[in-house]
Amino acid sequence: MDMKMERDFHMINGDGDSSYANNSSIQRKAIIATQPMVENAIQDVCADLQPQSMVVADLGCSSGANTLLFVSEVIATASEKIPTNNKTKESTMEVQFFLNDLPGNDFNHIFRLLEQFKQSTMQHCTHRGLQPPPHYVAGMPGSFYTRLFPCNSVHLFHSSFSLMWLSQVPEHLDNNMNKGNIHIGVSTPPLVAQLYLNQFEKDFSRFLQLRCKELVPGGRMVLTILGRKNSDVIHGGGAINSNCELLSQALHTLIAEGCVEQEKLDSFNMPMYGPSPDELKQLVQRSQLLDMVDIQVFDLTSDAVEKSKLEVGATASATQDNVHEAIGHNNAATLRAIMESLFANHFGESIIDDLFAVYAHNVTQQLETPEKKGGVTVISMSLQTKVLK
Ligand SMILES: C[S@@+](CC[C@H](N)C(=O)[O-])C[C@H]1O[C@@H](n2cnc3c(N)ncnc32)[C@H](O)[C@@H]1O
Repeated sequence: MDMKMERDFHMINGDGDSSYANNSSIQRKAIIATQPMVENAIQDVCADLQPQSMVVADLGCSSGANTLLFVSEVIATASEKIPTNNKTKESTMEVQFFLNDLPGNDFNHIFRLLEQFKQSTMQHCTHRGLQPPPHYVAGMPGSFYTRLFPCNSVHLFHSSFSLMWLSQVPEHLDNNMNKGNIHIGVSTPPLVAQLYLNQFEKDFSRFLQLRCKELVPGGRMVLTILGRKNSDVIHGGGAINSNCELLSQALHTLIAEGCVEQEKLDSFNMPMYGPSPDELKQLVQRSQLLDMVDIQVFDLTSDAVEKSKLEVGATASATQDNVHEAIGHNNAATLRAIMESLFANHFGESIIDDLFAVYAHNVTQQLETPEKKGGVTVISMSLQTKVLK
């Protein structure tokens, strides 16, 4: 059965050990790194558009602390920047949040966290002598490659670590065109890499068009995407390519052990693409709908490294090998929380434990090579709709 993102893709739900909520600290780092860009965008929206109700939507919000971290950043900035009524000291603006993700996302997990979140936000703000604006949170299921909101209704779109997911496996990428790989690997034919780029261009351009219809004139977007610095997509493809390369190697091991059929590997391609800053700039320019206010590239160190040093460092007899093993384990848990649903759908649930165990082992082995310790590149853009639409 062909992969369908709306039906087949979701992060691991809930707040258990293997959940996305508990294995998403690198994504958290991206939200923290881009906080100043979000603050600037909110300040500009408040100053230029002076909305009575500011509508803010987070696209690809997932569930857990990261989702609410973004919400709390907006509330904190709004409490500082929005004028208050002189007499009542109440904020003159309200904020409406929409949290969007695919239908399989664990929205209930977010909703269950909201009551406690509201209390801690209130405490946090009053502690600093601030009054949070009245705010309302709603879920908005659906693909961000479709229309989600009425025309001219949103002031700020935010999306972090989500837009590298394509709407589908690249069009015209047929079975057997990318044999032995699950993404753009070193043995991937250039035509296949081009099909990946074509799909990204099509999806991202569509995304910009749809959002521009939904934004009020002068509205803003802050988009953070897992990408790459290098223009060469095959040899300098960034974290997505290198993680997928290690995952395909793990699948080859399972094929050799007779647990996976070669045909299954040859017919599987990950619907992801990590763009370069130049590719993004060109697409924004080509859209003719938006001005690029700011673009920044961040190198984040995988938290697996720090977390593992902490975990293992607690033992006096910790060795370099123990740290590398823990890094492999943590890196595998991060990837599994994101990708398990797609792999289970195509290869069957029964191989998942083995697949990620072999992957963890491969990561550990690779750490013996010093140049393989690379971090994760994310590209963040602040965009504003051209006022004359
Ligand atoms: C790695 S998570 C990032 C979540 C969160 N923004 C964070 O920073 O932790 C990527 C999220 O994007 C969502 N996603 C992927 N494609 C999507 C689409 N077409 N429409 C809406 N959400 C999508 C996934 O379901 C997933 O929850």
